[in-house]
Amino acid sequence: MSKAIYVQPGGGYDKVIVGSCPAREPAADEITVRLRASSLNYHDFAVVSGMWGPSEPRIPMADGAGEVIAVGSGVREFAIGDHVVSTFFPDWLDGEPLVEGFATVPGDGIDGYARETVTARATSFTHAPKGWSHAEAATLTTAGLTAWRALMVDGALKPGETVLVQGSGGVSIFALQFAKLAGATVIATSSSDEKLERLRNLGADQLINYRSTPEWGQRVRELTDGRGVDHVIEVGGPATLAQSMTATRIGGHIAVIGILTGVAGELPLVSALTRQLRLQGVLVGSRSQQQQMVRAIDANGLRPVIDRQFALEQICDAFRYQESNRHFGKICLDI
Ligand SMILES: NC(=O)c1ccc[n+]([C@@H]2O[C@H](COP(=O)([O-])OP(=O)(O)OC[C@H]3O[C@@H](n4cnc5c(N)ncnc54)[C@H](OP(=O)(O)O)[C@@H]3O)[C@@H](O)[C@H]2O)c1
Repeated sequence: MSKAIYVQPGGGYDKVIVGSCPAREPAADEITVRLRASSLNYHDFAVVSGMWGPSEPRIPMADGAGEVIAVGSGVREFAIGDHVVSTFFPDWLDGEPLVEGFATVPGDGIDGYARETVTARATSFTHAPKGWSHAEAATLTTAGLTAWRALMVDGALKPGETVLVQGSGGVSIFALQFAKLAGATVIATSSSDEKLERLRNLGADQLINYRSTPEWGQRVRELTDGRGVDHVIEVGGPATLAQSMTATRIGGHIAVIGILTGVAGELPLVSALTRQLRLQGVLVGSRSQQQQMVRAIDANGLRPVIDRQFALEQICDAFRYQESNRHFGKICLDI
């Protein structure tokens, strides 16, 4: 048996318990991983807090990183001792998007990684970046890959293009880092001047406080000599999409990623069609996209931004901290 966190049906912090789950030997196509870290995402918050609570007891957390402790007889990709990181969609290995929703996602439709060990198909993991801690690796499954796919796959980002990132959360900071890696100019927004300075230190070229400049879309146009940005990392949702559309150049790309301000709202449709915008929905990415991202990280020495680490048993405190919006970058769990 190994230690595991369970969210009881319906979810809510009062429904989170520490329990145990059976450990088993890997079948031919499986590996067993001693999990060492996870990282928090809004989607995990929705499961744990009860916003989208589970219908049956569920081990939460989509992100998991650790070391391989047993390898099935048919697995060639991994060896005992390898450092690995989980994939968001264990069934979407490559190619065009294959999945709708969260039925196959660890920590939601199936058990996730808030536990000490897991035995799963080898394709549920990729190698972790070389030299990264387990906590660092755990930031990639959801936040890292979402930013990577939005910019590098869907956006086909080129040097010299301009990217707008919203706020200082996990997805946006990865997007800022990947955009700078690719030679792009970055405009960053935040509700906090202090966080904006930290975004500048990470390479942001232009800064806008979206609280003191509520018409920030127009400000982005001014900063780009009236043209608008090539790509927007849209994490705000209904309350930010109209500003994002104002901020985007004619024919530009908006990666529709987040729902921080709600799940439905009005779409300024005329602006979308007259400005010929490309609104691309994103749901994380495939295993092969994760492998591409890890190769790029290995080649460039990028490191993720971790704000704070909590022990596995402090999972509810970690989510309360996330709710407070005081964080900058990722919040991790040590297992
Ligand atoms: N579609 C996907 O595949 C996918 C994958 C990952 C995440 N997401 C979604 O993307 C969103 C962000 O996720 P995350 O993990 O990066 O969250 P996070 O780390 O919790 O980031 C939250 C940050 O977003 C900023 N923010 C909040 N309201 C904002 C607003 N109105 N305008 C601009 N920025 C705002 C705040 O930054 P400041 O404090 O600097 O203002 C806040 O700290 C969530 O809705 C999440 O569900 C989607």
